[in-house]
Amino acid sequence: MKRTDFFLGVIFMFILNVTPSLAQEDAKALFRQNCASCHSIEQDLVGPALKGVTERRDSAWLYGFIINSQEMIQAGDPIAVELFNRFNKVPMPSHPHLSTEEITAILNHIDSEAEEAASQTASTHPIPRPEEFYGANYRQFTFGDMIFWIPMTITVLLLIATLVGFTYANDALKEARKEVVVPQEEL
Ligand code: HEC
Repeated sequence: MKRTDFFLGVIFMFILNVTPSLAQEDAKALFRQNCASCHSIEQDLVGPALKGVTERRDSAWLYGFIINSQEMIQAGDPIAVELFNRFNKVPMPSHPHLSTEEITAILNHIDSEAEEAASQTASTHPIPRPEEFYGANYRQFTFGDMIFWIPMTITVLLLIATLVGFTYANDALKEARKEVVVPQEEL
């Protein structure tokens, strides 16, 4: 395999790997911009908690409701009317600008957030916070510590390097002295 092929392969794998997480970031942003003012995953706010919504409603209903809920309420859809009444007749704004892909991404985002939250509460051995782990003497490594320790480390390393340098120079000098043969007649 040529070297360029190899690098192209690596770049390609990188792109493949990165694309889904980018889409996830996009979905998160879409949710924050369009929905988060009224919805959370876990709790009822202005609108209902969205956890599990993809299971309790079928997908045609969901897309229709998200794009234009008022249309469904006016058409007399029983679930939509019941929700509207239960949530104090606050009309959810329509989202005609959202594409099918964007709504799918938002719904996936809701599912994955709910799953994450569930797996966090389900874990029986949570990782302790560092304070709990190390006791009361624990403190964070601060910027001030770095300002002290980085120059300190460099100084110590330089000192060691100098000492080693001296040792070598000394040895070399000794060797050189041995090699100087002073002619007898000059003594
Ligand atoms: C201004 C507040 C508001 C915003 C913004 C909003 N919603 Fe809603 N949503 C509501 C309310 C209130 C309801 C309850 C039904 C009603 O009153 O019409 C609701 C209901 C829903 C339901 C039905 C829930 C269920 O239990 O069946 C879904 C799904 C939903 N919203 C999704 C979204 C999504 C996705 C977005 C963003 C694209 C969004 N909503 C933005 C207020 C809002």
